[in-house]
Amino acid sequence: MLVSESETVAQVVASAFPAGQNNEISENAGSFKALNGTARNLAFKHDLVIFEIDPCDAGEVLAVKDLLTHRQDDTLFVALTQNDVSISVARELRKIGIDEVLPLSIDEDGLKAAVAEKISSRSLPQGYIQNGPSALGTVIPVAKSRGGIGASTVAVNLASSLAGGKGSFLRKKAKSRVALLDFDLQFGNANVFLDLEDNGGCLQLIENQEEPDDHFLTSILQNHTLGMDVLCAPAPLVPLQSIRPGLIEGMLDLLQRRYDYVVIDLPCAVVEWVEPIFKRANQLALVTDTTVPCVRQTRRLIDFYREANVALPVEVVVNRERKTMIKPAHVREAEKVLETKLKHWLPDNPKIARNAVDLGRPIVDMKPHSDLGKALTKLAASMSEGTRPATRKTA
Ligand SMILES: Nc1ncnc2c1ncn2[C@@H]1O[C@H](COP(=O)(O)OP(=O)(O)O)[C@@H](O)[C@H]1O
Ligand SMILES: [Mg+2]
Repeated sequence: MLVSESETVAQVVASAFPAGQNNEISENAGSFKALNGTARNLAFKHDLVIFEIDPCDAGEVLAVKDLLTHRQDDTLFVALTQNDVSISVARELRKIGIDEVLPLSIDEDGLKAAVAEKISSRSLPQGYIQNGPSALGTVIPVAKSRGGIGASTVAVNLASSLAGGKGSFLRKKAKSRVALLDFDLQFGNANVFLDLEDNGGCLQLIENQEEPDDHFLTSILQNHTLGMDVLCAPAPLVPLQSIRPGLIEGMLDLLQRRYDYVVIDLPCAVVEWVEPIFKRANQLALVTDTTVPCVRQTRRLIDFYREANVALPVEVVVNRERKTMIKPAHVREAEKVLETKLKHWLPDNPKIARNAVDLGRPIVDMKPHSDLGKALTKLAASMSEGTRPATRKTA
């Protein structure tokens, strides 16, 4: 549905969505104000409503606001407005429920791309489809007992496997929506494992004084070809305390509604803003080895994280070691200290690990049938099993 008086706009819309190709366009000259009460019934019958709006026209803004408070279905509302409209005015328009605000000068390709992006960011997570809007995405932080132990390797492969690409334990159809956040602010390198460059998103997030909204998150997350959306750690060095705890809360609120899984690569250091992450975490992956200092540090971290979330299930992942038939004394000792059986073991395979970094591809995608690939896939399957929708937190 098009609501505009401009001939140019009509032409752009007609070329972006040619009639006949699954499109049927109804044109309504004028404004929502003029359409009066009929606007509502008309608008909601369409998949997409494109309309021109002058943010200074209070009456028209009110008419649109009124219309949008009654929306119950998934009609997409896209506003076209003056090219020089400020970010804060655009934000105000989004606040009343308009899905996208675009400049009047946009061309057909721009319009088509903006609508396609909006539709894809709106497609609902599996959990939502299966359990309704109350099912929130699962938050899985990945922590480590020391730097270089393999936490990013685990986070990247976990995210990729959960997303359901090649080397996934999931059946083809059961793809999940996955976000991977690299919050290892100073040493984050998840992007290297995925051949992505920092797009400055994390820095923007840190510097942004306002609460992030859906639109902002879409702009800072990068779509990876394997089906996950990635927030890279900032390329420039930033202080560890840069993130406000409130920011994490607002961000996770949005992400948990949008994704089935939110995998978070954490820094080694314990900082204030990790608390809200642990408050929402459904499961923690803690990567370590079985040496005495690392086991001790693992114990201390578990105790600390459980202060924020007493019932937090912790999966200790032993990296670069192979499980043996007979448990050596040091492993028995580690299990005693950690008060858990060590179930997840990832073999040391420097050749494949190196190759994966060089190519910027997750091991579960590149070498799913290698010992390391299989172990990583098994880990993802087990973690996803542990957070099946029935056991998920609800809103
Ligand atoms: N199981 C493994 N076998 C061999 N090399 C590994 C293994 N896991 C990780 N690595 C390598 O160890 C290095 C550090 O891993 P990384 O995931 O960046 O650690 P962290 O994020 O804990 O600092 C990387 O070069 C990675 O490829
Ligand atoms: Mg890392």
